[in-house]
Amino acid sequence: MGEPVPQECEFDIVGDRAIRDPHAYFGMIRQIAPVLWDRRSRSWIATGYAEVTAALRDDRHFSSDRIRPFIARKLSSPDIDPRVRAAFDLLADWLVFNDKPRHLRLRKLINQAFMSAAMAKLTGQFTTLFDEAIARAPKAGKIDLLADIAVPFSASVISAMLGVPEVDRNRFADWHRLFGPVIGASLEDPNKYDSLAEGVSQLAEYVRGLIAIYRDQPQDNLLSALIKAHENDEALSEDEIIATCTLVLFAGSETTANLIANAILALIRHPAQMALLRSGQVAIADAVDEFLRFDGSGKAVTRVVREDTSALGVPMIAGQRVFLILAAANHDPAVFDQPDQLRLDRCSDRKHIAFGYGLHSCMGLQLARLEAAIAIPAILEKYGQIQLAGDLEWHPQLLSRGLKELPVVVGP
Ligand code: HEM
Repeated sequence: MGEPVPQECEFDIVGDRAIRDPHAYFGMIRQIAPVLWDRRSRSWIATGYAEVTAALRDDRHFSSDRIRPFIARKLSSPDIDPRVRAAFDLLADWLVFNDKPRHLRLRKLINQAFMSAAMAKLTGQFTTLFDEAIARAPKAGKIDLLADIAVPFSASVISAMLGVPEVDRNRFADWHRLFGPVIGASLEDPNKYDSLAEGVSQLAEYVRGLIAIYRDQPQDNLLSALIKAHENDEALSEDEIIATCTLVLFAGSETTANLIANAILALIRHPAQMALLRSGQVAIADAVDEFLRFDGSGKAVTRVVREDTSALGVPMIAGQRVFLILAAANHDPAVFDQPDQLRLDRCSDRKHIAFGYGLHSCMGLQLARLEAAIAIPAILEKYGQIQLAGDLEWHPQLLSRGLKELPVVVGP
C-alpha cells in the first residue's frame, strides 16, 4: 500500500455557520474524513476522537510550541514594536506553549502550587464567592447571565486565587479583554497585536508589584505558592511566575464563566433535562461532565507538526499547523451514543476531552468542575423561571466557545 492520499477541502472554520453551530459544522467535516487539509486556514483539521486523542498523546510528532516559530517568522525584524515582541516573549513562557523538557519542569513546579494547602483552603471559599456574586444579580426581570453572574463569579475566584485585592479586580477584566482576540484565535480584530501588547505590559507590571508584596509576606494564595514552589533546587523565575499568573488568569476565568453560561443555555433548550436536574435525580458532578462534553468552553487546541509524519493517517509535513477540534471529538458517534443529545444521566465515564488530554491536559479541571457544580444548581435554585430573552451571538473564535451575552428573563 502506498502513502494515504490527503483529502483537501476549503472550509470557513470561523464563518457564521461554524461559530453558531460548531457541532453540526465540524460533524459535517468529520463525515468527509477525520483529518483533512483546509486550504483556507492552511491547516490540518482533526475532528475524529481517535485522531484527536492520538495527536494529543504524541508529543514526538506534534509540538505545543507555536509561539517561538511565530516570533522567528514574524517578529524578528528590528522595526517590530518592542512591546508586541515583549508580549510574545511572555507567551513563550506559558506552560501550555512549551514542550518537554521545559514543559515538565514548569508543570511540576506549578502543580506543587496548585496542590498546596493554600489552594485547598481557597476552594472551601468558592460557595461564599458565588453567594456574593449571585446576591448582586436581580431577583427577577431581564438579566445577562454571563455579565451579571457567571463572569463576576469566575473573576472573583481567579482573583482570590492569585491574591489580587478586591479593588483591582475590574482591571483584570480589562486586561483579559485585551488578551482575548490573540489567544482565542479571533479573526475579527485587526488591532489584536496592539491590544495584546497593551494588556501584557500593564498586567506584567501589576503582577510584578504583587510578587514583591507576597515575596516579603506570603499569604494563602496561588501567587505565594508559586513563589515558594521548589524542586531539586529549581524554582520558577520571576518572568515564569508572571507568565503563569497571566496564563491562569486567561485559562481559568472566562473558560469557566462560559461553561456555566453554555450549561444554562443547554438546559433552557432542553426543558426535560432542566426538569431532571431540578428534581435532584441526577448527580451534579455527572451533569457537569455532560455539559462539558455537550458544549464545553474549549472548542479546539493547536499543535504544530514537529517532523514529517503519517501518524494520523495523512502525510503531514514539519511546520504545518493542526487544529484539534475537541468539540468534534466529543460528538464523535464512534465513541458517544447519540452524541448530539444532551443526556445529563449519561453516566459519563469522563471519556470526553473538553479539558484536553495527555501531557497538557488542563491543570484547573477540578477547580472548573467545582465552580460549575456550585454555580449551576444555585442559579436554578434562585430562578424557578429562566427563559431566553434575545438573539444569541457567539464570539467568532476558533479555540473557545463563548457567548457575547446570555440574555434571559428570570423569575423566582
Ligand atoms: C471549563 C473551564 C476550562 C476548560 C474548558 C479548560 C480547557 C483546557 C484545555 C483544553 C487545555 C489543554 C490545552 C492544550 O492541550 O493545548 C487546558 C490547559 C490548561 N488549563 Fe484549563 N480549562 C478550564 C479551566 C481552567 C482553570 C480554572 C484553570 C486554572 C485555575 C486552568 C488552567 C490550565 C492550565 C495551567 C493549562 C496548561 C496545562 C499544560 O499545558 O500542561 N484551566 N485547559
